[in-house]
Amino acid sequence: MDLSHPQSNLTLNFNSSSSTTTSHSSPPPSHHSISLHLDPPLPPPTLPLQLLEPQSNGGTLDPLPHSQSLFNNDTDDDDDDNQEFRILGHSMCLKRRRDSESSSSSSLSIPLPSSKRFPLPPPDSSDLDARRAAVRSWGNQPLQIADPDVYAIMEQEKKRQFKGIELIASENFVCRAVMEALGSHLTNKYSEGMPGARYYCGNRYIDEIETLCCERALKAFNLDPKCWGVNVQPYSCTSANFAVYTGLLLPGDRIMGLDTPSGGNTSHGYYTPNGKKVSGASIFFESLPYKVNPQNGYIDYDKLDERALDFRPKIIICGGSSYPREWDYARFRHIADKCGAVLLCDMAQISGLIAAKECMNPFDYCDIVTSTTHKSLRGPRGGIIFYRKGSKPRKRGTLLSQGHESDQYDFEEKINFAVFPSLQGGPHNNHIAALAIALKQVATPEYKAYMHQVKKNAQALASALLRRKCRLVTRGTDNHLILWDLRPLGLTGKFYEKVCEACHITLNKIAIFGDNGTIIPGGVRIGTPAMTTRGCLEADFETMAEFLFRAAQIANTLQREHGKLQKTVLKGFESHRDIVELRARVEAFATQFALPGFDI
Ligand SMILES: Cc1ncc(COP(=O)(O)O)c(C=O)c1O
Repeated sequence: MDLSHPQSNLTLNFNSSSSTTTSHSSPPPSHHSISLHLDPPLPPPTLPLQLLEPQSNGGTLDPLPHSQSLFNNDTDDDDDDNQEFRILGHSMCLKRRRDSESSSSSSLSIPLPSSKRFPLPPPDSSDLDARRAAVRSWGNQPLQIADPDVYAIMEQEKKRQFKGIELIASENFVCRAVMEALGSHLTNKYSEGMPGARYYCGNRYIDEIETLCCERALKAFNLDPKCWGVNVQPYSCTSANFAVYTGLLLPGDRIMGLDTPSGGNTSHGYYTPNGKKVSGASIFFESLPYKVNPQNGYIDYDKLDERALDFRPKIIICGGSSYPREWDYARFRHIADKCGAVLLCDMAQISGLIAAKECMNPFDYCDIVTSTTHKSLRGPRGGIIFYRKGSKPRKRGTLLSQGHESDQYDFEEKINFAVFPSLQGGPHNNHIAALAIALKQVATPEYKAYMHQVKKNAQALASALLRRKCRLVTRGTDNHLILWDLRPLGLTGKFYEKVCEACHITLNKIAIFGDNGTIIPGGVRIGTPAMTTRGCLEADFETMAEFLFRAAQIANTLQREHGKLQKTVLKGFESHRDIVELRARVEAFATQFALPGFDI
């Protein structure tokens, strides 16, 4: 349906000849309806009603003009038959239909909760009480009673988190306050739009929360609100990245990000070695990856420079999922300027380190910065987008003006529109409140001390593994993660990951550069934020290095005993004596450290 033509053959019809009725009475027969008419008849309409825009009314927003009278009152039936709505900025005519008008087969009928024609019998009060009580009784049940099955599984998961060593670099444990906000009544509210401009009414407090969250996001990264804006609504970082592409690019436009086997994230574009387009970034846009130098594991900036000038991407992305070293943002900026690209940093992995000034600051060089909110940042699951606003610096060349070069950034409008309505619906307000809480903590000296410890712990872990002659990519780390190349030990990341899991240590397999794609990853990624949150210091990470090394020895033994037929090996090995013994040590170690928010 082409909404760009206001004369589109679509009208919205209301049928309302009804009187008001109490909320406890039965719904009336359904011929009192709102109907969506398409003329000539089309297949069932796909236009979401949410796209009806609130009309601005003398400076105040009136999300559904005249809706009160339409739903509750039959005295103004003789008012204007036509009412105007806007759908994505286009005027639409909303026409009331009289009862006598029949509904066409192509109309969408929605029952209205009122009836004058069919008066209801007087309510029986005991029946009403019983019905109210029935609804309330399950509405107030605690989880354990309401759903013992889910409760039991959740308890098991809590135990797993408590008894194990969590070394997945992307994971963390949120604090009690964040969890309280996540499990709160804020999940009940719809609030499509932005603070002060929502589709639904009743968003006064939701607006306050989102505004506070945005202010805290800017403060956490020391950003001037005159030069930077932020959108805290993305449901994840993948969605945040896709919103940036959607807002700034046309389908088929070009982007460049770090190759996934080199440590990039698939949301920056990825094709499998046989050419299958994996991520939306590659399906809807054209992506060309840059890579790390296979000799040393560092990003090959010279090659990136050369390829970018040939490929002429509209967006260059720095930031990745498995890169243990600093990013040379100044070099990225230089390359982006040479080919006229926007520079996007996805700081998902290291946003906590950046906020605490434990890593270099991408905001000094980048146009747009995205992040997850649940990794080192230690907030609820979600995504966030920071974008430059105000005047552009004189020398910065961006292609995205597409002919009409302006001296002002226009990211704000494009990105906000891409997040909603292009890609998402109602924001998850419980998550936004939880993020506001986490961001308040990010600005504290305690959080800075925590991030400092995360980095020290990563260095202690790296040193302890290097002392055991393990091969680490780039021989160490500048951030919270290390990459252990297991190929010299004759192990694959997949097998080692399984052995560790059996010993109650969680980490994840990764491709090591030079691998043949991601099919048989040759290493593992190990991160320190989660165990640092549980209170582990350098000496504890030395102990964890010992466990990790022991797990590699066990994996080797298993391979020697059973050959490389790993599927058979994997089957019964949880009860292998070496694994049982290491698991017991791991659990005894891990249970010394509390899980935030739980008294276990
Ligand atoms: C750099 C980077 N970007 C994006 C993502 C995807 O984040 P999400 O799971 O929130 O979509 C990740 C996840 O690990 C990541 O490391």
